[in-house]
Amino acid sequence: MAEGRRILLIISGGIAAYKSLDLIRRLKERGIAVRCILTAGGAQFVTPLTVAALSGDKVYQELFSLTDEAEMGHIRLSREADLVVVAPATANILAKMAAGIADDLASTALLATDKPVLVAPAMNSMMWGHAATQANLATLEARGVRRVGPASGELACGEIGPGRMAEVPDILAAIDSLLDAGPLKGVRALVTSGPTLEPIDPVRFISNRSSGKQGHAIAAALARLGAEVTLISGPVRLADPAGVKTIHVESGREMLGAAIAALPADVAVCAAAVADWTVSNASKQKQKKQPGGAAPAIELALNPDILTTLSEQGPARPRLVVGFAAETETVVEHARAKRQRKGCDWIVANDVSPATGTFGGDFNTVHLITAAGDEPWPRIAKADVAERLAWRIVDALKGGG
Ligand code: C5P
Repeated sequence: MAEGRRILLIISGGIAAYKSLDLIRRLKERGIAVRCILTAGGAQFVTPLTVAALSGDKVYQELFSLTDEAEMGHIRLSREADLVVVAPATANILAKMAAGIADDLASTALLATDKPVLVAPAMNSMMWGHAATQANLATLEARGVRRVGPASGELACGEIGPGRMAEVPDILAAIDSLLDAGPLKGVRALVTSGPTLEPIDPVRFISNRSSGKQGHAIAAALARLGAEVTLISGPVRLADPAGVKTIHVESGREMLGAAIAALPADVAVCAAAVADWTVSNASKQKQKKQPGGAAPAIELALNPDILTTLSEQGPARPRLVVGFAAETETVVEHARAKRQRKGCDWIVANDVSPATGTFGGDFNTVHLITAAGDEPWPRIAKADVAERLAWRIVDALKGGG
């Protein structure tokens, strides 16, 4: 799909430059031509020889090199690509881009290019969070520069926080989407994920143990295939997936409001474990223990059913509505009935009996229930369930299946 396209990859000076070597390999495997500019900082982390060997091309480093200018001027270098990728993008190069500084080959090519630019920032979390960096990013994004990452985690400096360069698969997905290469290009997807949190009072709540891993993996897989994804997430301990617009909510009602606001969508996947009940007598003030007093009564009311509501949207109904059913017995029968009752097209039924370790775990054993019948899938990683489901969604939306 992206085969035959050309990328100008600018490697600036960050420890994450080593990941860019893998990025070059993966791009080449896809038949994408990669030409690289290595900044002086970048050359402190990876050698020009390695970059040249992997890209199968000359590495460009000097602005005022006579040979480079004779063979390939900086203007041509920046224009001959379909896309310019800056990975890693340091705070310094982002600042230069925002200010329009052109004092080396990389920054000059970035100022001269007429092609889309994707940056993969990588830096210490204080540098990332600094008002200067954030202002520079806002400037760049307002000019149409696209960004992937950074992720949160342990940084090379030993600190923990946001600033890690996005992982290579996420950068590849962002590249695919910018090259118009994903099979779900032009498709709008809505995914709900995680638990909901129903307040009892300002400090207490009712919730459940959903980790959000499956829903988040589905949102990420759809985005990797090129869909424009809105993920509506309850409170989870997961990072927002790359390339996905993530909306954070707490209660089931908020989740419903955000889901309706995210319409129109071509496909909706409701993977959230929405609390069945909300507290109808939640108090505005923290409830106090009264010495010797009775425990307060918590009154429950049914939460709105988001899956059913989306399935009943009439003309605004997504073409494909997918729900989940967590069951511990007679999985397929229950899921079939749920598909009918909720009016959705597919149900992904998971067996959540304790022995399966599905809750909170990384693996899932599912059946896909459609109008055509029941397909048992083998026990596979949640990320693989997501990938497989995303490809089924491609078939259904593009193939009319
Ligand atoms: O009825 P049950 O909770 O088993 O249904 C599970 C499916 O319905 C899941 O897809 C879940 O996301 C969705 N659901 C919902 N809103 C609710 C309850 C469940 O969207 N209030």
